Amino acid sequence: MASFIGRNRPVDRFTPLDPQSSSEAKYRLPIRTRLRRNRKADWSRRLVRENKLSTDDLIWPLFVIEGEKQREPVASMPGVERLSIDEVLREAERAMKLKIPALALFPNIDREKRDERGSEALRDDNLVCRTLTAIKQRFPELGLVADVALDPYTSHGHDGVMAEGEIVNDETVHLLAQQAVLLAQAGADVVAPSDMMDGRVGFIRNALDNKGMSEIQILAYAAKYASAFYGPFRDAVGSNATLKGDKRTYQMDFSNGDEALREVALDIQEGADMVMVKPGLPYLDIVWRVREEFGMPTFVYQVSGEYAMIEAAAKNGWLDGEKAMMESLTAFKRAGADAVLTYFAPRAAEKLAREA
Ligand code: PBG
Repeated sequence: MASFIGRNRPVDRFTPLDPQSSSEAKYRLPIRTRLRRNRKADWSRRLVRENKLSTDDLIWPLFVIEGEKQREPVASMPGVERLSIDEVLREAERAMKLKIPALALFPNIDREKRDERGSEALRDDNLVCRTLTAIKQRFPELGLVADVALDPYTSHGHDGVMAEGEIVNDETVHLLAQQAVLLAQAGADVVAPSDMMDGRVGFIRNALDNKGMSEIQILAYAAKYASAFYGPFRDAVGSNATLKGDKRTYQMDFSNGDEALREVALDIQEGADMVMVKPGLPYLDIVWRVREEFGMPTFVYQVSGEYAMIEAAAKNGWLDGEKAMMESLTAFKRAGADAVLTYFAPRAAEKLAREA
């Protein structure tokens, strides 16, 4: 009589052994199922492999600065640099060659251009708009994701407008919608609100549609947590220096899981085409739940701090960086993610191309 554990998995029945049948019989366990059998050789492991990372799963985030022929290393993100537009174009070409589907762009603008309301975000010739236009012109087939939020532009480093020490929701949403329209007009294919204001996805969708840009996709940073793992990113865009306080009145509390589902449900209702969970590895449970609950295109952001941890340990010789990279990226696939924003994108794509 069969008995079962889990989802129809038969429990091994003990098989009586003939003690005379072989010399090792003395030690042989009375089990018939041996999961190691499928792992015994590479060819077999490949046959039974459940999840695979592909270059098609990667989005490559890049940091942009003014100037020409500029490449500034980001100290807290070894291997990542801030690039002037001409250098971004070289990396865009590399992305095309590697068949990475899309780039995500983040500007680091001069301190003097940052103000209380992030007005630079609403200029159609700002750094990120010029970058989008330049890339779209040269590489029209490359997907371009543009972040919608005010933090690279505000003097206080917050994602929205501040009044009496508070980040004001509704007024911010109006500015974000204008920002999204400008980014789309400049060449973004996807706008990605990363600000966590309430109601912004629907408002941005309306603004785009009213301007005749109903083909522009919205990738909602739907479940974005107030996280210590964004530290190196804030170095990269220069908002660590400007940020006053923290973002806990708008980004999610890391203690919460059910609330993430409510956030995602609202963004879907408001018109998000893709939803994202952020950060990545510490939040794989959320990725899994979002994927299971909604079956939406589910993205995950392997954020700067996750990248920095792997790189720092690898630099010290404490782990094999390339293996940790592939393991962490594959973990996202296993958790149900469709795509990953990752600073490892070019390196992972190169590795996948070498192995193909
Ligand atoms: C800005 C934004 C942040 C990240 C992406 N967009 C930082 C923040 O919310 O403070 C973090 C990405 C990373 O850490 O790699 N709204």
